[in-house]
Amino acid sequence: MTTIRVELGERSYDVRIEAGLLRQAGDILAALAGRRAMPIVADEHVAPHLATLSASLTGAGIPHETIVLPSGEATKSWTVLERLTDRLLELGVERGDHVIALGGGVIGDLVGFATAILKRGCGFVQIPTTLLSQVDSSVGGKTGINARAGKNLIGAFHQPRIVLIDPDVLDTLPARQVRAGYAEVVKYGLIDDAAFFDWCEANGARLLAGDPDARSYAIAHAVAAKARIVGQDEFETSGQRALLNLGHTFGHALEAEAGFSDRLLHGEAIAAGCGLAFAFSADTGRCDAAEAARVTAHWRDAGLPDGLRASGIAAPAARLVEHMRHDKKMAAGTLPFLLAHGIGRTYLDRTVALDEVEAFLTEQAR
Ligand code: GLY
Repeated sequence: MTTIRVELGERSYDVRIEAGLLRQAGDILAALAGRRAMPIVADEHVAPHLATLSASLTGAGIPHETIVLPSGEATKSWTVLERLTDRLLELGVERGDHVIALGGGVIGDLVGFATAILKRGCGFVQIPTTLLSQVDSSVGGKTGINARAGKNLIGAFHQPRIVLIDPDVLDTLPARQVRAGYAEVVKYGLIDDAAFFDWCEANGARLLAGDPDARSYAIAHAVAAKARIVGQDEFETSGQRALLNLGHTFGHALEAEAGFSDRLLHGEAIAAGCGLAFAFSADTGRCDAAEAARVTAHWRDAGLPDGLRASGIAAPAARLVEHMRHDKKMAAGTLPFLLAHGIGRTYLDRTVALDEVEAFLTEQAR
């Protein structure tokens, strides 16, 4: 078993990674549960994993009710949050108790936020079931729901007490979802780890084909990177954690245009967004064009969109830039962009004019 510690003082916790871990969940969680119940909140699509988890908790003598919620972004809403918190109160959840989130980023974000506000904060456990949530959203304590004005605009930092990652659950994940999660894996190489990007170029195809060693290695490497960055900048104040948003400004505009629907999955938007961030960096002389070409070539090899045209979003550049103007990172009329001097050399740039971005996107659409 690989254990990675997220060092956050009194909020520190372990991320445990091992194939088949779901079957051991009850034994691992028994001490945390004490003699109390641990409700499970699960995505409707994870029924087989729910059965395994439930059997494991029963075996360890942990009482648990199950709450199954619809999959999809619409679940991150006030309505579902209200239903969930009402149900958790009915179940008698107390401050010292823990609720288990079993699912992808939607369930993790919702349960994290529900437990952040329930009785002013109770515990939760993340058991992520998608590659994207295993390597990114389950670690680091960003929780929340969507607002009418945009995604993730209501939320709180609330760290889980433990994260259990079983790479075997990915066997049942649709290939498109695995590819989308892989974009977030590669992102760690692009940010500050050129050697890991080399590894992805050499081993990405194996990982995407389901090779267990490649998969476990990449998950552990990504989680270690995330734990390090979150440990340095838990509340995204020093700029370090903001690096994790590489590809998100361009990607978010594409997702917004797609209506945050299955037309373009989050990971696909991040791949296209990283491609655009590197292409923009190269176009404006910040980065060698050959480095940007390596990034887009890797996305194509992985079956991911490498930029604007491949994303399938045909919106005019002006409309994409309009989405950027509503970005929650906008500060004093300027939008900070994650750009790169090369692979593994991402940095936060506050000098980018949106007119320049619009001209670039107009060119990219040709
Ligand atoms: N997903 C970006 C972060 O956790 O900061």
